[in-house]
Amino acid sequence: MTADHDATDAQLFADLPEASVLSPSELIRTYHPNILAPLVRCSKLPFRHLTSLYETHITHTPMMLAEEFSRAQVARISDFSTSSDERGVFWMEPKSSPSSSSPSSSSPASSSSNERDRHPEDDRPPLASSRYYDPPPHRRLPPTPTPPTEHSQLIRGCLIAQYASPNPASLADAAELISPYVDGLDLNCGCPQRWAYNEGIGCALLRKPELVRDMVRCVKDRMGWDWPVSIKIRVDPDLKLTDQLVRTALQANISHLTIHGRTRHQPSTDPVSLAGIKFAVDCARGEVPCVANGDLWELEDARRMREETGVQGVMAARGLLANPALFAGYPTTPSHCITQFIDLSLDYGFVFPLFHRHLAYMLESHFTRSEKVWFNSMTSTVGAVDWLKSRGVAVGSDRGTIWDARRGRNEADQYQWRV
Ligand SMILES: Cc1cc2nc3c(=O)[nH]c(=O)nc-3n(C[C@H](O)[C@H](O)[C@H](O)COP(=O)(O)O)c2cc1C
Repeated sequence: MTADHDATDAQLFADLPEASVLSPSELIRTYHPNILAPLVRCSKLPFRHLTSLYETHITHTPMMLAEEFSRAQVARISDFSTSSDERGVFWMEPKSSPSSSSPSSSSPASSSSNERDRHPEDDRPPLASSRYYDPPPHRRLPPTPTPPTEHSQLIRGCLIAQYASPNPASLADAAELISPYVDGLDLNCGCPQRWAYNEGIGCALLRKPELVRDMVRCVKDRMGWDWPVSIKIRVDPDLKLTDQLVRTALQANISHLTIHGRTRHQPSTDPVSLAGIKFAVDCARGEVPCVANGDLWELEDARRMREETGVQGVMAARGLLANPALFAGYPTTPSHCITQFIDLSLDYGFVFPLFHRHLAYMLESHFTRSEKVWFNSMTSTVGAVDWLKSRGVAVGSDRGTIWDARRGRNEADQYQWRV
C-alpha cells in the first residue's frame, strides 16, 4: 500500500485504537522501555515532554522533598507542573509472543492480580482502582499511523514522581497529594550529596532497609497495596548490604527497582559497574522488574546494559541531557529536537536559567569554544532564541498535530546550522 501524501493527520490516524494505559511496572515487565532519569532542576515538564517525542517511554520528575511538598503550597507550585499531553503514545513490541503477554487496555490497577498485589496481613479491599491516575483526554498520537510490525501495540507512556523523605508520614502525604497527576512514586535512595546525607535522605537510606520498607508500606497503607511505589538505589561497596536492602524492600511490595551502578562514594566519571547492577537484579529474584542506570550515551550502551545485567528497562540521565533524541536512534542532538525544545519551552513557559542550561547541554558538542563563551554569556530567552534563529534553527514553525521523531531520519537531520 502506498502512503497517501495528501491525507491530513486526522485522516491518517483516524482508525487507531485507544492506547493502553499501564502502570510503570507493567510497562517495564511487558516491554523494553527507555526511561528518563529523575534530574534535579532538569527533568521538568518541557524537558520531559521533549524526551517523550523521541522514544522515551517513562519519565521522572526531579527529586522533590516530601516534607516540603506536603507542607507548603508554594513548594508544590514551584516543584511540579504537568500537562495532559506530556506522556507520549508509542508503538511497542512486547518481549514475548503477543498471545502470551498482551497488555490489558484497562487501568493497570485492575489488570494485575498476583499475590504481590495484596499485603499478606491486610484483608481490606484494594483502594487503588478508585485512586489510580485517571488520564484526562490528550492529543498525543504515536509517531506513525501504522504499526511498525504486526506485534506492535499502542501504549501510553508513564510519569513517575520522585521524592526524598526521611520519614514515612511525609512520603504518604506527598503521595496522596500528587497521585491524581502521576502513574507512581519513586523513593530516592541514591542522592550522594552531603546535605542530603545529613538530612537522612538519599544515600543515607541505603543502609536503613527497615526505614525504606516502612516508608513504602506507609504509602501503600494510604494509597492501596497495589499503588506503584519504586525505589532507586546505588550499589553498596558491601554487596551483602545491597542484598539486604533489596530483599527488605520486596517485603513492602515495591513495584519495580532501579539500580544506579555506582556506589555512594563514586563520582560520575567512574565507569558504572554492570556486575554490581546484575547482582542487585539477582537479589530481586524476578519478583519485580528492574531498571539499570548509568553511562548510557548511545543506543548500543542500552543494548549492552540489557544483555549483561538482565534488566527490563534502561534509564539515562546525562546522555539524554546531551541528546534528548538518544533513544530514537540519533547519535547527536538533531536540529528538530532543538526546535521542539524551544517551542515547548515557550509554550509551557520555562525560566531562563533552566532553558539556557538545557540548550548548553544539547549544543555542547556542536559549539566551538568561542561560541560556547558567547552562548554562556546570554541572559535572556529572547536573546538566546534570536541568536539560534540567526544560525538557522527554525523556531515557532508549524508543528502540525503530531511529531514523528523517526520521519526522515538521516544525515541531514544532524545539527548543521553553523555555516
Ligand atoms: C543534573 C543531575 C541531576 C540529578 N538529579 C537526580 C535526582 O533528582 N534524583 C535522582 O535519583 N538522581 C539524580 N541524578 C542522578 C541521575 O538520575 C543518574 O542516576 C546518574 O546521573 C547516573 O546516570 P548517567 O550516568 O546516565 O548520568 C542527577 C544527575 C544529574 C547529572
